[in-house]
Amino acid sequence: MTGSTTLPLNIALLISLISLSSSIDFQGSLIHSNSPRSPLYNPKAMPSDRIKASVTNSLSRHRYLEFSKSPSRASPDWVQAPMRPHGIGYVMSYYIGSPATETFGIADTASELIWLQCLPCDYCFDQKLPIFDPIKSSSYRKIKCGDPECQTMDTTICRTDYDICSYSIGYEDYSSSAGDFSSERMIFSDNRSSANYTLLNMLFGCGHSNVAIDEGADNPPGMIGLNNQSLSFLSQIMLNEFSYCLVPIDEVNGSSPIHFGLSASIVGGMTPILDVGGYDGFYYLGLEGISVENEKLPIPVDTFTVKADGSGGFIIDSGTTYSILNSTAHDMLIKEVANKTSLPRVDDTTEQFQLCYNCSIQELDLTPDITFHFTGVGVDLLMTKTNTWTDNGEGLYCLAILPTDGFSIMGTHQQQNINIGYDVMKRVVSFKPMDCTKPPA
Ligand SMILES: *[C@@H]1O[C@H](CO)[C@@H](O)[C@H](O)[C@H]1NC(C)=O
Ligand SMILES: *[C@@H]1O[C@H](CO)[C@@H](O)[C@H](O)[C@H]1NC(C)=O
Ligand SMILES: *[C@@H]1O[C@H](CO)[C@@H](O)[C@H](O)[C@H]1NC(C)=O
Ligand SMILES: *[C@@H]1O[C@H](CO)[C@@H](O)[C@H](O)[C@H]1NC(C)=O
Ligand SMILES: *[C@@H]1O[C@H](CO)[C@@H](O)[C@H](O)[C@H]1NC(C)=O
Ligand SMILES: *[C@@H]1O[C@H](CO)[C@@H](O)[C@H](O)[C@H]1NC(C)=O
Ligand SMILES: *[C@@H]1O[C@H](CO)[C@@H](O)[C@H](O)[C@H]1NC(C)=O
Repeated sequence: MTGSTTLPLNIALLISLISLSSSIDFQGSLIHSNSPRSPLYNPKAMPSDRIKASVTNSLSRHRYLEFSKSPSRASPDWVQAPMRPHGIGYVMSYYIGSPATETFGIADTASELIWLQCLPCDYCFDQKLPIFDPIKSSSYRKIKCGDPECQTMDTTICRTDYDICSYSIGYEDYSSSAGDFSSERMIFSDNRSSANYTLLNMLFGCGHSNVAIDEGADNPPGMIGLNNQSLSFLSQIMLNEFSYCLVPIDEVNGSSPIHFGLSASIVGGMTPILDVGGYDGFYYLGLEGISVENEKLPIPVDTFTVKADGSGGFIIDSGTTYSILNSTAHDMLIKEVANKTSLPRVDDTTEQFQLCYNCSIQELDLTPDITFHFTGVGVDLLMTKTNTWTDNGEGLYCLAILPTDGFSIMGTHQQQNINIGYDVMKRVVSFKPMDCTKPPA
């Protein structure tokens, strides 16, 4: 990776950003794709379809993240942009160009680049909104090969016959986005005051050749990378802090607040973001153990730690629905929860989860409490029943955590009703359980 941690932007822009970032303070909204308010909402999908899609999302997302952290990604045509560009996740809307047109992207804490589909399309997948047309925008600029911005990306390709900095991001399943690395005006609206934050010269990928695997599905126009690498949304606007609070999935019409800058709420228990030796694409956390009803599972200490070869570890992610735990821990968890639950256990009729009960939602109170113990003092996160269980779509309640033989992820199902703060300078993630449908006191 050639990209250093500082952005070689031009000085004028740097100064405007410094004065800007000290005052940036806005609340956006994250809308889940299963909400009727989401541009990705599919009214025809049955509950069982949504659960199934979420399981598929979690497992394929895990594969991409595993792939993008593996040594093979060193090939310059591939970058850690691990979400295949479709379907499930939390979208955030914004305006782009002059005149401004509305668009949105999936908010992704495990990727760097902001990108969206652009006209003309060599190949574009279906999206509901009109595809962004840079020719109609007076603030659009393509980055040239000699421009310093071109050096910020480790995946740019400069052809001798085309003096434009190109990008190409690939996914393990051969979905991809490629196009011109560009800069544009972007506008983010504050949900409380409806004040606009206008960000000039934001760098992004203008994708002219985009392949989605799930043709015909509703696809988001693009992504908003929220990791801490130099081209991410955070780094570009020089912000160190953001926080979000995900409303429960069954509050279908709810929107989840996401705060950037001053109003970011870094409160509650704090756990360090781990430095895993140069790879800063993901937010790695120290998960030190899991308890079932005050009894710590005998999980081997290295189950969630990153190995010397980069394998393993535990990350928090905004793009994975159900948490995925290394099978060593997952098997112990299932066994212990089953042992402490005296409800009628049945096999999952949809064959997606390993522990299911035929019971009412009230009876879930009879299941044992599960606590995740993170590195740090008092960072013991008690999972609510909502975060632990999910209706499998056919009336059974199943433990909403999936097994893997690789690294582990804390998914969004386990993040509901918790204020989660990220301070990338102090290198901490904070957790504070709360009712995300209510504004913070
Ligand atoms: C914010 O910007 C959008 C897009 O230009 C515009 O439609 C909206 O009216 C603006 N809001 C305010 C409060 O200026
Ligand atoms: C702003 O947030 C409130 C409360 O979370 C929500 O009801 C409203 O729909 C949001 N507005 C937008 C434009 O997202
Ligand atoms: C969500 O909003 C839609 C459209 O406004 C409405 O038809 C539906 O009843 C609402 N659902 C809930 C659970 O409030
Ligand atoms: C995860 O589980 C598999 C099989 O259970 C094991 O081989 C592997 O080493 C475990 N740990 C990590 C960090 O991947
Ligand atoms: C739970 O575990 C204990 C101790 O290992 C065992 O004696 C008991 O039979 C188990 N109960 C169930 C319901 O599996
Ligand atoms: C769950 O229990 C109900 C009755 O309480 C029964 O009708 C239904 O068949 C059961 N479902 C499964 C999958 O066992
Ligand atoms: C984020 O980037 C800043 C600036 O490069 C660096 O000081 C900090 O350690 C990074 N934080 C994380 C969590 O990687």
